[in-house]
Amino acid sequence: MNRPDAGTNTGTDPSQRAAELRRLLNRAAHAYYVLDAPLMEDPVYDQLYRELLELEQRHPELRSPDSPTQRVGGAPAEGFESVRHRIGLLSLDNAFNTDELEAWYARLLKVLDREPGTALPMVGELKIDGNALALSYEHGVLVRAATRGDGEQGEEITANVRTIGAVPLRLQIDPAPAWVEVRGEAFIPDATFAAINAEREERGEALFANPRNACAGTLRQLDPAVVARRRLDFFAYTLHLPDGAAPPSQWEALQWLRQAGFKVNPNAELLPDLGAVERFFQQWDGGRRQLPYATDGVVVKLNALSLQDAAGFTQKAPRWAIALKYPAEEAPSRLLRLTCQVGRTGVVTPVAEFEPVALAGTSVSRATLHNADRLAELDLHGGDTVVVRKAGEIIPEVVRVLAELRPAGAQRLELPHTCPECGSELVREEGEAATRCVNSSCPAILRGALRHWVSKGALDVDGLGSKLIEQLVDRGLVGSIADLYRLDGAVLASLERMGSRSADNLVAALQASKGQPWHRQLYGLGIHHVGEVNAKALAAAFPSAADLATAALESPDLVTAVFGIGAEIAQSLQQWFATPANQQLLSALERLGFSLALSPEALAAQAQLGQAGGGPLSGQTFVLTGTLPSLSRSQAQALIEAAGGKVSGSVSKKTDYVVAGAEAGSKLSKAEALGVAVLDEQGLRRLLEAAAA
Ligand code: IVH
Repeated sequence: MNRPDAGTNTGTDPSQRAAELRRLLNRAAHAYYVLDAPLMEDPVYDQLYRELLELEQRHPELRSPDSPTQRVGGAPAEGFESVRHRIGLLSLDNAFNTDELEAWYARLLKVLDREPGTALPMVGELKIDGNALALSYEHGVLVRAATRGDGEQGEEITANVRTIGAVPLRLQIDPAPAWVEVRGEAFIPDATFAAINAEREERGEALFANPRNACAGTLRQLDPAVVARRRLDFFAYTLHLPDGAAPPSQWEALQWLRQAGFKVNPNAELLPDLGAVERFFQQWDGGRRQLPYATDGVVVKLNALSLQDAAGFTQKAPRWAIALKYPAEEAPSRLLRLTCQVGRTGVVTPVAEFEPVALAGTSVSRATLHNADRLAELDLHGGDTVVVRKAGEIIPEVVRVLAELRPAGAQRLELPHTCPECGSELVREEGEAATRCVNSSCPAILRGALRHWVSKGALDVDGLGSKLIEQLVDRGLVGSIADLYRLDGAVLASLERMGSRSADNLVAALQASKGQPWHRQLYGLGIHHVGEVNAKALAAAFPSAADLATAALESPDLVTAVFGIGAEIAQSLQQWFATPANQQLLSALERLGFSLALSPEALAAQAQLGQAGGGPLSGQTFVLTGTLPSLSRSQAQALIEAAGGKVSGSVSKKTDYVVAGAEAGSKLSKAEALGVAVLDEQGLRRLLEAAAA
């Protein structure tokens, strides 16, 4: 079927087609992220997006900064540049009650030379609890985004901000002004925040204390791909335009922003006088809890621009605006005890339990302290009085300790050295926030370990879901991975929602899983940092668990010599193999019939490859000289040999590469004289990577 009139793009000029696609996809993003009224179905969007992406790949000159493909295209940054804002970002003075609000208003009237009690129209907006952004558009196109910084200078984070769907890449204003400066608040909605933290907990990463911190941390992420996954949102509230072009009031500025394609908070109101401002404040005191994002007050702004100009600024804030803040949802409470939770991945989280207090409409009696660093920072002692905060849906946190109220002789509290569930020594890796229990048979992490063991990339056992695992652990039928293989059909059949047929199938599936290759078994053990890729590399280099254990415990250099395996992974392996319960698990698995090793066929194939000089660098001769920045001589040699290359001691015409580091001597000069290719460490790594690909 070929109907050129039915919207197919046959024969269309690529540049025209790209422009059409850009326009349509940007409109679709606006409809989706800002208007919350999708223009098209997700798969339709995806397909058009892919068409544009392919078009741009074929014709790179068609790529433009306002293309939706550029929202995710940024490469990780090394760091952020400092940029000076075209117009400084001010902060706001705060009022904490209506008396302070009235005092502010009285001062304002005085500055403006108005009678006390004069009614001036104001705009009431919600104070979004996020991070201020400064967006610069030139001729309608987003050219720069920066953090607030000190108000004068911020950090340039354009690539990150491009990933925010609610930020237009091109303004819907024709003709667009030469420049526009827009300010607003980036934030993470509560539900997204909860999902991010749940995921971090699962991966054993430190939790974010609240959405604002999560947002700030995300904006300063070096990899825009990570930012894109965190799904930030944005409300615009301030507009700066070239002289003469600015709307005459804040209310109209908000309409301008909305028309230009920004997401503007829908709860702003034009308020005729101070009484209306107070009612607006009171109304949102209750109402804000129903909002899907955090707010910590309302912002009141004089509406008329001419009056704003007349009122002017103090040192750091406009006289014509004020933040009216809700009292923080904080209360003191007495610490009863410090407990520890052991998560699925073995991460140990300290939890403060205190006398119940009413906060944000609920009774709160426990709060996570995140990790050992946070615990140390709080300097928590037994019997301390702590300040607890809870805002809306946010998990409660201990903000600080009132050290003045500390009982005499109180002991400083620390994380235990052993796991509260199983008694194993706890481990904290360098540079990591989390403290972990690494005993794979710890009951608290057993469920997670079992789920991982039977998962697709690991042993891939059908018919053993989370519910069943829970029953097995709760009833004490399974205390380790090995116990799974000791279950008999009759016991399984007696469990909830299990018939004898499915019980038999499961027993068969478990038996069959013993034949899975060594790298899957290794991955299935769930050793921290050993994902599928690392497991494959390790299993190829160390043909059995015994080989790997010996290397991990006795010569970590051999472990880090494996391509892609760094010191962090080596350390994690060392800890794992040093844990007695893990050694017992390995012996038990062996007794049950697991090889925990390359199969004889795989070994034979590997040996043949070695004899035949297989491997991507086979037949090539390398000479090493000087000191390489990060590889020892033996590591470099191991890497080359693993890829099939040979390492020789002297340079000749037959040498293919000389790998030279610092203080390389005569071998390097000889290589140069003979015209032999010279590589530095990076060059070697690139060669190995290319060879591995
Ligand atoms: S106006 C001169 N409006 O609150 C105008 N700020 O405490 C200054 N904020 O730095 C900003 N919601 O990050 C304004 N509707 C809103 C706001 C808002 C949140 C933040 C902003 C500012 C901070 C001051």
